[in-house]
Amino acid sequence: MYGPGGFYRRLEGPAGHFRTSVHASPLFAGAVARLLCRVDEALGRPGTLDFVDMGAGRGELVTGVLAALPAEVAARARGYAVELADRPAGLDDRITWLSEPPENVTGLLFANEWLDNVPVEVAEVDAEGVARLVLVREDGTERLGKPAGGAEAQWLARWWPLPAEEGLRAEIGLPRDTAWASAVSRLERGMAVAVDYAHTADARPPFGTLTGFREGRETAPVPDGSCDITAHVALDACALPGARRLTQREALRALGITAARPPLALASTDPSAYVRALARAGEAAELTAPGGLGDFGWLLQPAGIADVPL
Ligand SMILES: C[S@@+](CC[C@H](N)C(=O)[O-])C[C@H]1O[C@@H](n2cnc3c(N)ncnc32)[C@H](O)[C@@H]1O
Repeated sequence: MYGPGGFYRRLEGPAGHFRTSVHASPLFAGAVARLLCRVDEALGRPGTLDFVDMGAGRGELVTGVLAALPAEVAARARGYAVELADRPAGLDDRITWLSEPPENVTGLLFANEWLDNVPVEVAEVDAEGVARLVLVREDGTERLGKPAGGAEAQWLARWWPLPAEEGLRAEIGLPRDTAWASAVSRLERGMAVAVDYAHTADARPPFGTLTGFREGRETAPVPDGSCDITAHVALDACALPGARRLTQREALRALGITAARPPLALASTDPSAYVRALARAGEAAELTAPGGLGDFGWLLQPAGIADVPL
């Protein structure tokens, strides 16, 4: 997936295959820009304010956030895209393209649909009730390997205990916890936010969520570099001390996004404003939809500042 010629290295980028909140509407970047302004206030308006787009795709979010900032904040803002794929041609020169997050970030590090792409081991319970690691060939054929042990077994026991029932599965989120802690450690002061398909200990999916995506459709998660491979994130396990979790619906409402339809009277007084407002309401509805993007988890991790009002 990440190797030369792999799924995420292709010219079309993730947007060619699936729709994240970033692609669904510019309202999302606008809301993230407002969050960056709140972080800026909490930091006491520093001389330089960083925005780090972690797992940036083709830099769409950082581009949208910089464009949506008020001029006074934009003048102090520095944008970073952190991505394994190459820098796309034509990206705004003001954006620094990196393969690792920068050190000493003062501002906001935002990871939209990054952690679900951090690879995890899958465990499955065998006929004797033992949780074994699932091995997979390049054509997608699976068989069970050795029992989960060590830190992986400890992670399962703590975050996703598997009853001894044949066929039950869990995705061992340890590499995501580590990846998140490492990204957060780059923050000097400010906030880190991870947004993803998520589940928590009270409602883990009994057979896991491992799946693939290609050209807008769900597909078998075949590890041959031809499709996206993803599994929902145990966001509660990623949380470090001081973190808070919200749904995307709650977070975006707190950042001023509502799906309320414009008053019908506007249709006769200013028809084009009415149509624009109606389109915005439709996009807001998609970003906050129950059963869809609105159910995504937001993990908010302040560092060296009081929590930001949200
Ligand atoms: C699902 S896409 C999300 C893109 C974008 N954030 C969005 O919301 O539209 C995940 C991205 O994370 C990138 N990625 C995965 N692991 C990464 C890592 N360790 N460092 C940097 N980028 C990574 C992938 O290459 C891919 O572009």
